[in-house]
Amino acid sequence: MKDPFNREIRSLRISVTPYCNLKCFYCHREGYRKFNSRYMTPGEIGKIVRTFLEFGIKKIKISGGEPLLREDLPEILERVSHPKIEDISLTTNGILLEKYAERLKDAGLHRVNVSLDTLDPEKYRRITTYGDVELVKAGIERAIEVGLTPLKINYLVMKNTLEDLEDLMNYCREVGAILQIIELMPLNENLKRYYVDITPIEKKIAEISDKVVTRRSMHNRKKYYIGDLEVEFVRPMDNTEFCNHCTRIRLTYDGYIKPCLLREDNLVDILTPLRRGEDIREYIHQGILRREPYFKAPNFPSR
Ligand code: GTP
Ligand code: 5AD
Repeated sequence: MKDPFNREIRSLRISVTPYCNLKCFYCHREGYRKFNSRYMTPGEIGKIVRTFLEFGIKKIKISGGEPLLREDLPEILERVSHPKIEDISLTTNGILLEKYAERLKDAGLHRVNVSLDTLDPEKYRRITTYGDVELVKAGIERAIEVGLTPLKINYLVMKNTLEDLEDLMNYCREVGAILQIIELMPLNENLKRYYVDITPIEKKIAEISDKVVTRRSMHNRKKYYIGDLEVEFVRPMDNTEFCNHCTRIRLTYDGYIKPCLLREDNLVDILTPLRRGEDIREYIHQGILRREPYFKAPNFPSR
């Protein structure tokens, strides 16, 4: 199904918990709502996913908070697996990944994205508030070993991590991960001080790369290859790259359809009707109709 801005919905991002075992100073926490004690069970998540299939969902992303804090994550993965779902991925900070990678793979997970902005243990500790970068590296290496691939390393470029580019390129090359270079969303005044435009980095990578693939399905976003290393760029604040072509819809851990990452005002409660035994299709329909691009672009067709 398409939203009122002619955007097809293909990807369902499910947050399974608001809690995280790290506290990165820049984190958007996938939203700023007050914590709720109501949680969707694996069975409920499975039912909602099955109904979403009728609306054209092909990809599932599991996120948090930190999704590995949910002990029933393997069961959640089993419940969302379905022949019509082509891609099941998870975004994690990697701290608990070494221990769970194999179990997650067995439960149906295809691949993971791991947030890692620096390999410097002291800097990592400062950015994440006492995280241990060695645990993350062990998690990444184990995940690749068990086949949770292609594995992407999410590297957020900020004033204080700009110098880590080369280290991260070398590490990705060494372990066989994709480097995903992300521009900071400066969502408050403090974060604006850390903002760096990643355009010059993309230019530099373009110059040294020996192959560039333009991804038509991703609105001409490019993938660069430098030997075996693959590099991608994400500009989450860029209209032309992101919101104009956004195909995502979200499900919060407490059972609301969230039409946009950056908005908290247009949620649709789907768990209450599900628990009452109602048909939830109309609620999904409403959620899709509420989708509006956040960074409204001038070239958007009006409703
Ligand atoms: P895959 O490439 O399919 O693995 O997913 P992804 O890279 O889009 O997801 P991931 O969770 O790794 O997030 C990468 C970046 O995209 C992060 O900076 C997110 O904050 C940003 N992002 C994810 N969803 C949205 C969204 O709906 N809107 C905006 N503006 N940014 C988003
Ligand atoms: N700007 C850009 N990306 C962010 N992430 C978290 N906060 C921000 C922000 N302010 C990214 C993390 C993680 C992904 C889920 O979202 O790097 O990899």
